[in-house]
Amino acid sequence: MDINKYSPKFKIKSQHLLHLADLSTEEIFEYLYAAKVMKKKYKVGEITGILKNKTIGLLFGNVSTRTRVSFQMGIRQLGGHYVFLPKNETQLSRGESIKDTAVMLGRYGLSALVLRAFNDSEVTEFAKYSEIPVVNGISDTSHPLQILSDLFTVWEMKGKLENLKIAYIGDGNNIANSLIMGCSKCDMNVSIASPNGYTPDQRVVERGMQYSDVVITNDIYEAVKNADIVYTDVFISMSDEEDEKKKAKLARYRVTPEVMAQAKPDALFMHCMPVHRGEEVSAEVADGEQSVMYTQAENRLHLNKAVLALLTKR
Ligand code: CP
Ligand code: NVA
Repeated sequence: MDINKYSPKFKIKSQHLLHLADLSTEEIFEYLYAAKVMKKKYKVGEITGILKNKTIGLLFGNVSTRTRVSFQMGIRQLGGHYVFLPKNETQLSRGESIKDTAVMLGRYGLSALVLRAFNDSEVTEFAKYSEIPVVNGISDTSHPLQILSDLFTVWEMKGKLENLKIAYIGDGNNIANSLIMGCSKCDMNVSIASPNGYTPDQRVVERGMQYSDVVITNDIYEAVKNADIVYTDVFISMSDEEDEKKKAKLARYRVTPEVMAQAKPDALFMHCMPVHRGEEVSAEVADGEQSVMYTQAENRLHLNKAVLALLTKR
């Protein structure tokens, strides 16, 4: 489906935002159109009170720069409030159940709850018991907000989504899984180059193949050939232990100028950040002209506002 032919209604059917697999293409487009409006309003200095008298809970189980600040600033920009809850300062850290936490948090008047760095099964359990919308702010196996924001960035930069080729090089982690789901639902062609043992979740790959071409290969050059976008992420994620064996296997899966040269001349380089220059990407590429990683980080602000606006609208 061509996003440019879609007419947004600024309405979302799903109560929560947990995984891109749960969203229809139309819902993905709704979030992207809403992000476009949010960014436009911000750029012209238009104030909106969409979250006036609303408070959002931010329950974070791990460190964050972008997700935390973009939510905190985004909520302020929409006239709302937030309660920041580091998980280790809640009774969850002493064994209180997710069910009790989810039910009880909904009774204090919060309008939505953003969860950061919980296991995927825990995110699903929160949503099962929560009477307010739950947003997955990253789990061990997915990062839907990042990929929605990245789709918005691609749309902004390329003017379309349909039929673009995206190549992801590296660990088949949460970013790779969500990229496969989000890009395939937007009719993009996805190529993933990962070493054996570190390929993305096979169930996600099979699901993505129902929507568009998804190719999994060990060959970086096959993946990046004629790509419109080259994407990579860290070798070791927050949910991983330090692992020298894994780093050694991934060492060849780096984005360098030679790799970028195989993609289209106008290809974008994307990275969700944080970046480890010299590991998954060379400094020349990360800081080069084709890199749009700072715009990706910037767009998290507008996408997060879009998500909160639509999920708290009902
Ligand atoms: N990309 C991203 O989610 O960044 P943070 O870990 O800093 O939130
Ligand atoms: N794969 C990375 C993404 C960080 C935004 C991690 O989970 O740490």
